[in-house]
Amino acid sequence: MRVLMINGSPHTHGCTYTALSEVASELKKEGIESEIIQTGAGAVRDCVACYKCRELDNRCVFDDDMVNKIIENAKTADGFVFGSPVYYAHPSGRILSLLDRLFFAGSKVFAYKPGAAVVSGRRAGTTASLDVLNKYFTINRMPVVSSRYWNMVHGMTPDEVMQDEEGVQVMHILARNMAWLLKSIEAGKKAGIVPPPFTPVKATNFIR
Ligand SMILES: Cc1cc2nc3c(=O)[nH]c(=O)nc-3n(C[C@H](O)[C@H](O)[C@H](O)COP(=O)(O)O)c2cc1C
Repeated sequence: MRVLMINGSPHTHGCTYTALSEVASELKKEGIESEIIQTGAGAVRDCVACYKCRELDNRCVFDDDMVNKIIENAKTADGFVFGSPVYYAHPSGRILSLLDRLFFAGSKVFAYKPGAAVVSGRRAGTTASLDVLNKYFTINRMPVVSSRYWNMVHGMTPDEVMQDEEGVQVMHILARNMAWLLKSIEAGKKAGIVPPPFTPVKATNFIR
């Protein structure tokens, strides 16, 4: 089993990475592999609402960045963790641009697989940021994995994050809960329990 993580910080080895690494090391103890994808410091293209992904099977029309590669990678992943620093009480712009495109083009690849969001902040805006990230899961038939507190760490440097003992413990418990859920889903599959079929969507726009 494999968990795919996305670091929505431009700092490849910063605070968010530190939090994701704590989740990864605890997953490893549970026998679950993981991979951290870095969004980096370069420009990330936003969704331009061209709706071309509706004609391209699970692909974004822009093929020159990481979006389609992540969709491909996600096909064989069993669970997801999206991590972001807090910027003005919301997730980073880069992770939102990325997730908008990933989910608009590749929602089927993520559906029915567990997801968790993790945020890193100096002080405030953490729960508001988590709410935004969790909405990608809850609009897309994904079980949301929780810990014993909201999934956040505090700090301006990786060292400070490691001093946030409660935050680090929250990451470890999150990983163990993710492992438990993944193993339960696997056991369910072996027993013939599969996700419900996709039902046709009733999309209303409130104009009568
Ligand atoms: C533009 C900007 C805005 C920020 N806004 C907030 C904020 O609203 N709340 C907060 O707690 N930290 C805020 N921070 C601090 C970062 O979220 C925090 O240091 C985070 O742990 C950095 O993670 P990283 O090392 O993975 O990039 C902000 C940082 C930047 C650069």
